Amino acid sequence: MTVSSAPGKVYLFGEHAVVYGEPAIPCAIERRATVSAEARDDDRVRVTAPDLSLDGFTVEYGGDGGGRPDVNVAKGLVEAGIGYVDAAVEQARDALDRPNAGFDVTVESDIPLGAGLGSSAAVVVAGIDAATRELGHPLDAAELADRAYRAEHEVQDGQASRADTFCCAMGGAVRVEGDDCRRIETPNLPFVVGFDGGAGDTGKLVAGVRELREEYGFAAETVENIGDLVRRGEEILADADPGDDPTADLLSELGLLMDFDHGLLEALGVSSRTLDNMVWAAREAGAHGAKLTGAGGGGCIVALDATRETETALRYTAECEDVFRAELAHDGVRVEE
Ligand code: MEV
Repeated sequence: MTVSSAPGKVYLFGEHAVVYGEPAIPCAIERRATVSAEARDDDRVRVTAPDLSLDGFTVEYGGDGGGRPDVNVAKGLVEAGIGYVDAAVEQARDALDRPNAGFDVTVESDIPLGAGLGSSAAVVVAGIDAATRELGHPLDAAELADRAYRAEHEVQDGQASRADTFCCAMGGAVRVEGDDCRRIETPNLPFVVGFDGGAGDTGKLVAGVRELREEYGFAAETVENIGDLVRRGEEILADADPGDDPTADLLSELGLLMDFDHGLLEALGVSSRTLDNMVWAAREAGAHGAKLTGAGGGGCIVALDATRETETALRYTAECEDVFRAELAHDGVRVEE
């Protein structure tokens, strides 16, 4: 049996606009999805995923009963996150030219599903890594990130950038602009994450922004403005000392851009009342900046605050179900003993 894990992520800046070729800066955080894969003697796939649904369940498919989960089952499964596991198995089979490879797969995750923390990307990255290693042919990091992107792209009906999967594969802070993906150095950014207990539908949210952008010139300009603020954020980060604690000036400059980014995402219709309320609670508690992270619609916000004030304020905010400090995860995908 082979066990791999991959981190979740928050977006410092740039979600949604990255889908249209603007740059984005996601940062991996120390919350991980862990996938174990054990090769089977037949061509079936058995997935046990206690953390990918409320009740936890096991699904088995393939072999004589047919190839991949049938459409209706698959629809429910995609919602529960198993669709991502299936797409990861397909990518592993394709990469190694072993279309009939069967696996018992178990997924465990401490990243809330669909909440903007990269749960699906982490599952896909760890799943492809575990399955290919289990067959004795691990992929290099670049191919792994590319395969994971293709898996997410398929499950999300062609609506995915490379940002989430590249970040979860590589770890650290990364910069993604179209196909140009690389790691960047940053100071130790003090992230606080607030979670409203809900989730957004990434496909629908991305489609909503696409429609606005096609219909209204000012929505297209809003997307470009997000790209401009990401470029400004990059300049600020490039002048900072990597690995050090950030200065107060750096935190306020980055925080201002985060606030601005949230405003533009709100204008594009991807925030929600609960996300806005958590953002305001964090700002009022003295956070340098706060914004939604990921696709939006519900889920998580990320705030920048080195003190404990934001955590305490969010803990007493009605809309906030969970709050935690998120360390930057330096490791991307890795093998677990
Ligand atoms: C979702 O975590 C981030 C989006 O930008 C979609 C994507 O980049 O694939 C909304």
